[in-house]
Amino acid sequence: MDLWIEKYRPNTFNDVLGQKDTIEKLKAMAKAGEVQHMILSGPPGVGKTTSAIVLAKTIFSDQWSHNFIELNASDDRKLSVIQGKVKEFARSKPIDAPFKMILFDEADSLTQEAQQALRRMMEEYSGTCRFIFSVNYQNNIIEPIQSRCAIFRFRSLSEEDVYEFIDKIAEKESLEIDDEAKKALFFVSKGDLRALTNLMQSLSTVSKEIEAEVVYKSSGTVNVEQLKKAVELALSGRYLESKVIISSFIDQGVGPKELISEIFELITSSNVKVDEKMKGYIVEKLAESEYRIVEGATPFIQLQSFFAFLSSLKR
Ligand SMILES: Nc1ncnc2c1ncn2[C@@H]1O[C@H](COP(=O)(O)OP(=O)(O)O)[C@@H](O)[C@H]1O
Ligand SMILES: [Mg+2]
Repeated sequence: MDLWIEKYRPNTFNDVLGQKDTIEKLKAMAKAGEVQHMILSGPPGVGKTTSAIVLAKTIFSDQWSHNFIELNASDDRKLSVIQGKVKEFARSKPIDAPFKMILFDEADSLTQEAQQALRRMMEEYSGTCRFIFSVNYQNNIIEPIQSRCAIFRFRSLSEEDVYEFIDKIAEKESLEIDDEAKKALFFVSKGDLRALTNLMQSLSTVSKEIEAEVVYKSSGTVNVEQLKKAVELALSGRYLESKVIISSFIDQGVGPKELISEIFELITSSNVKVDEKMKGYIVEKLAESEYRIVEGATPFIQLQSFFAFLSSLKR
């Protein structure tokens, strides 16, 4: 079975969604054929690794796999292993190119000690090797490396970009995904296209038709619309109906903590109509339930009791 995250990884800069400014700069770099040491920073699954690979393919064309390696910093955490691999790679000459490129993927997890060692290797091999660090946070990289690198920032992808991505995969894999399901996919993946792609692939093994409910269920994430309905039902005194919804969340394996923080959002944002004077009171009750859960009370009973309280306000 081929992994969709590899199957649908863009091969050219033009196929990378979003990241416009960053991609323009990388394109210019590729065109000039001059590559600096770099830090690619940004949230997970938005194209950092992909862009490094595309850069290598663009610059080295047929020889890209000879002149480029990817070291996954979280797999090869042992400093001696990393040093060994870098040395071995850096020792052989680049083919049809003035330099080679090393990508340290997920470099956030490199220890300070490992980074110090890499900084020394950067100096030693800077004649023939360019070092690229992909990170979630730039500040997880030690200053002496930061100061030697050009920084490229990757941003969260927009809802439109994510929908375009979903549509493309849906078309190629003959999936049926309606608008509500798309929204759900965007919501649960939080714009992380790796998570999104993996989720779509796993759902597709069950059915070619992907529905919102299944998306929420499989990810253990709250269907906010449904939760909103439960809160509204309770607020209008219809406790039993709200209880059914809450039970179904618990059955789906949604964590009580997540439920509580989403309820908090609903109450405090004006997403649900609540008497302003009551808001403080409700939040206090919610905090009480949360506290009890943390202290070991049964989450389901605490949640039920909170919803019973909500519906008691109506009386
Ligand atoms: N900007 C993007 N445009 C198109 N596909 C993307 C983009 N970002 C991520 N992807 C998809 O998600 C997968 C993981 O992306 P990757 O570049 O490895 O993310 P990361 O930013 O965590 O390094 C890729 O295989 C690709 O299919
Ligand atoms: Mg990556």
